[in-house]
Amino acid sequence: MDRIVVRGNGPLNGQIPIAGAKNACLTLMPATLLSEEPLTLTNAPRLSDIATMTQLLQSLGAEVTSMQRGKVLAMSSHSVSNLTADYDIVRKMRASILVLGPMLAREGHAVVSLPGGCAIGARPVDLHLRAMEALGAEMDLRDGYVHAKAPGGLKGGVVEFPLVSVGATENALMAATLAKGTTVIKNAAREPEIVDLAICLRRMGAQIEGEGTSTITVQGVDRLGGATHPVVVDRIELGTYMLAPAICGGEVELLGGRMDLVGAFCEKLDAAAISVSETDSGLKVARKNGRVHAVDVTTEPFPGFPTDLQAQMMALLCTAEGTSVLEEKIFENRFMHAPELQRMGARIEVHGGTAKVTGVERLRGAPVMATDLRASVSLILAGLAAEGETVVNRVYHLDRGYEKVEQKLSAVGAHIERVSD
Ligand code: EPZ
Repeated sequence: MDRIVVRGNGPLNGQIPIAGAKNACLTLMPATLLSEEPLTLTNAPRLSDIATMTQLLQSLGAEVTSMQRGKVLAMSSHSVSNLTADYDIVRKMRASILVLGPMLAREGHAVVSLPGGCAIGARPVDLHLRAMEALGAEMDLRDGYVHAKAPGGLKGGVVEFPLVSVGATENALMAATLAKGTTVIKNAAREPEIVDLAICLRRMGAQIEGEGTSTITVQGVDRLGGATHPVVVDRIELGTYMLAPAICGGEVELLGGRMDLVGAFCEKLDAAAISVSETDSGLKVARKNGRVHAVDVTTEPFPGFPTDLQAQMMALLCTAEGTSVLEEKIFENRFMHAPELQRMGARIEVHGGTAKVTGVERLRGAPVMATDLRASVSLILAGLAAEGETVVNRVYHLDRGYEKVEQKLSAVGAHIERVSD
């Protein structure tokens, strides 16, 4: 099994290109099931999760061809020959549930395995099912599978979410594009990945208004066409690499970075005495001298501070001057990186959804264990500024959401390598 070995090596300088967004691509790909015409995605990230979604779509009868070393995904589902999303694929990746809405809308029938447990929280899919019912579908849970049917096709309706869900909003939005009549999605998620999905669906001929706000209105159409769509920049990969010079010192330009995707995050970096500025090609992050300042962080749905940057932010605050309080409001079990950072000498107290981090002068390298995608990269960031060597185990988590981490970080001066048993 691969491990990543990191040695602290002082300030970082140079440029890091930011890829297309995993969490946008994972909802854009199932949109191909809504149309008989080809859908081509450009600027696609090369990640194991994208390979899993490809496998799932192919198992349903869609054609997915990866070109230009994976940056272009040419997809077509002129016929959906299999309406069952199998457990063996779905258990690998929760985002598989995003085929439910498109299949139901197109074929009036879908069978999708329930995703099962997840390290960071219970993560039920009840809101996805409620949304389909609001569009007139009958849902039945049997033998670990969701059996959904809408023999006469879906009908427009009001989908009102009791809490903000990115995935359930994406499923409802895709399903509503082919539902008869008008759908209003209330308390919708406002994430940039949803805006990107709406732009792509409109390119396919959908009628959508209000994406990026908490109320989205969709006029159903009889059929959708094809399109070519560039995947939006990955704001979580962007935020992750913005923290590398923040933690180690130095100055790094993030090529393709956009301030509007990371507003709340940049406010916290500014409060921590990290400078962020816009350049012609992206964003520049610099930390010249002096220690980082402690800041308090609470995770929230967009445009609030993203939960997917909480672990990485904790790594920064481990060597801040003073005590920071992090509140995780989205997932109930997303502090598993804390005991691993403690192994590196961090001072962290976790009580339920709150972590108190008292900054230390410097962390020390240690062998640590990755427990989920964002936790794994937070350990790498911590290792970049630690004394000695850090060995991060179970990096298969990392490959789900980050392409070429070692190359990108060593290009700006980091000592990092991947070793295989
Ligand atoms: C998306 O997950 C992202 N994944 C997650 O990124 C991200 O952490 C999350 O949104 C929040 O921003 C993808 O886009 C593939 P939610 P999703 O539905 O859609 C509860 C990463 O690291 N909920 O917004 O699954 C749920 O338990 C991943 O890239 C229900 O109760 O998240 C959670 O507490 C991790 N019932 C909250 O809502 C439901 O039916 C928000 O979850 C659905 C969700």
